[in-house]
Amino acid sequence: MANAMRLCTLGLFLLSCWTCEAGSKVTKAVDANMKYKDPKVPVEDRITDLLSRMTLEEKVGQMTQIEVPVATPEIMEKYFIGSLLTGGGTQPVKDASAKDWVDMINKFQKGSLKTRLGIPMIYGIDVVHGHNNVINATIFPHNVNLGVTRDPALVKKIGEATAVEVRATGIPYAFAPCIAVCRDPRWGRCYESYSEDHKIVEEMTDIVNGLQGDLPPNYPKDYPFIGGKDKVAGCAKHYIGDGCTVKGINENNTIIDMKDLMSMLMPAYDLSVQKGVATVMISYSSINGVKMHANKKLIDLLKEKFKGFAISDWQGIDRITYPPDANYTYSVQASILAGLDMIMVPDNYTDFIGNLTKLVNDKVIPMSRIDDAVTRILRVKFLTGLFENPNPDYSMVDMIGTKEHRELAREAVRKSLVLLKNGKTESEPILPLPKKTKKIIVLGSHADNLGYQCGGWTVEWQGYSGNDRTSGTTILKAITNTVDPSTQIQFSEKADPEFLKANKDADFAIVVVGEKPYAETKGDNLNLTIPHPSQEVIKKSCTSGIKCVVILISGRPLVVEPFLPAMDAFVAAFLPGSEGQGVADLLFGDFGFTGKLARTWFKRVDQLPMNFGDKNYDPLFPFGFGLETKKGDGQGEL
Ligand code: BGC
Ligand code: BGC
Repeated sequence: MANAMRLCTLGLFLLSCWTCEAGSKVTKAVDANMKYKDPKVPVEDRITDLLSRMTLEEKVGQMTQIEVPVATPEIMEKYFIGSLLTGGGTQPVKDASAKDWVDMINKFQKGSLKTRLGIPMIYGIDVVHGHNNVINATIFPHNVNLGVTRDPALVKKIGEATAVEVRATGIPYAFAPCIAVCRDPRWGRCYESYSEDHKIVEEMTDIVNGLQGDLPPNYPKDYPFIGGKDKVAGCAKHYIGDGCTVKGINENNTIIDMKDLMSMLMPAYDLSVQKGVATVMISYSSINGVKMHANKKLIDLLKEKFKGFAISDWQGIDRITYPPDANYTYSVQASILAGLDMIMVPDNYTDFIGNLTKLVNDKVIPMSRIDDAVTRILRVKFLTGLFENPNPDYSMVDMIGTKEHRELAREAVRKSLVLLKNGKTESEPILPLPKKTKKIIVLGSHADNLGYQCGGWTVEWQGYSGNDRTSGTTILKAITNTVDPSTQIQFSEKADPEFLKANKDADFAIVVVGEKPYAETKGDNLNLTIPHPSQEVIKKSCTSGIKCVVILISGRPLVVEPFLPAMDAFVAAFLPGSEGQGVADLLFGDFGFTGKLARTWFKRVDQLPMNFGDKNYDPLFPFGFGLETKKGDGQGEL
């Protein structure tokens, strides 16, 4: 460093020293032989070298993450912005292709690379079930389904496929996995959780190695690992207690003692860290009344054993106060002093940068805290290979929604449906259905609606309705693909008496109904009833005299007890995603049902929260329940 300074002042060998004039805020010299630019130098030495060259302005910029709509390449450059994100539903251009995403990232990266030190920005995006913002990406079943599979190896493969699709769009950083332990299905994000059982959530942290790659032998247990150009930096979220809030209200308070927190909620974070997770996102929620974004004690506990960075949630620091943003200076102070490294601002970046800079200059926040944050951020950037490869190219654009990835998603669908009833009596199972039969009627709003079967965080933040936004196979299409060509299929969304009358000769009714898509907060629901008109469709179809199979599409168990006696078969499909063919694979016996509930199916909402292992456990279907069918039975002619 001292040498570099001397060279600069003497004006010798200056290849890129344009900011060393006295009085300038940026006074450190930059020469062509900068150690941090040399990939052969160990990462920690590169970090030390780079950090020693950085001004406060540059450091604060690294800690700032903004969202694309407020960004320009000039802003990236001027404010030394460290990271960009795409939130739920934002597209570079309408119906963007993978190339459009790559182009957008390069456009912004250009701004970052123009800065004095040329530190690349890291681009992050939500990857809740596959690369869900991107048109034609493979939409995997939501985590609520994946818990049902009890198959961490499958979930790891999903991580691998997802990482490839994310990199295909030029993005190196995914906000996944969500390792919430959802203890109350009234929480609208319950489908982002693998299970109410923390052990299942812990097993599913294998997805970290799917997304980021397998650790080399003897790799340190606290150090991030990102294994190459088809892997991404991941983000375990939301630390900690997001799925245990009172009444399942989003961003609310979790009441828990330290012993339970350490035994039920912490292990999934410990495992993610040990598996090399690059970052951890802090939860909007509170633990025993203390907002996690200001919870120094718990953030310290994480960072003592973790060398990646802690990122805030979207406007998470604003929400430290009530009303949000009531005292932004305090929010910045409390969150940074609590140990947050990168702040997902995401829009009012001048406010954040101004406040943080002043707090450091006023010595409220020590420089050591800033250096800790920047060290961790740079570490992830170096390990992600961004200094060597800051500009993505088109080499992987064909990897979006490949046949192979869709087959994997279809397999996950097959393993993640739970058969809860099969026949009015056990001795008269009706599933699997015969492929060759006279007529099958398909009913319900969710039978031919890709948006509905994918759920929230699909193309749009809160999800969407219809078949025209992305590609996949609806359940109706899957049924028609599967039956014998001689089997007649009639479809109606509603169970109109005329339709039922006209088709009273049908052998079976497949009724596909459920919840409409939702995401954070909007999905919170204290009633958990099957929404109208799905209730009516079930009642009418299942009392029409035709044998009925009900498939429920929902992010969580709902109140089904009153409807159950009329059903001949009942399948919980949760949110299967784009590959509806997996549903038909099971209905018609090409594969057997194997899924076991990873959540308790309650009878009434007044029982909630009620989880496996509780005293007075009185479920409709217990955790772990699921009927099985064998491949092939029921096939043939009726
Ligand atoms: C969510 C996070 C998400 C972030 C960025 C927040 O509202 O809680 O899970 O990663 O937004 O979209
Ligand atoms: C964004 C989401 C984000 C949410 C937070 C939305 O506008 O699109 O990504 O999670 O705001 O409230």
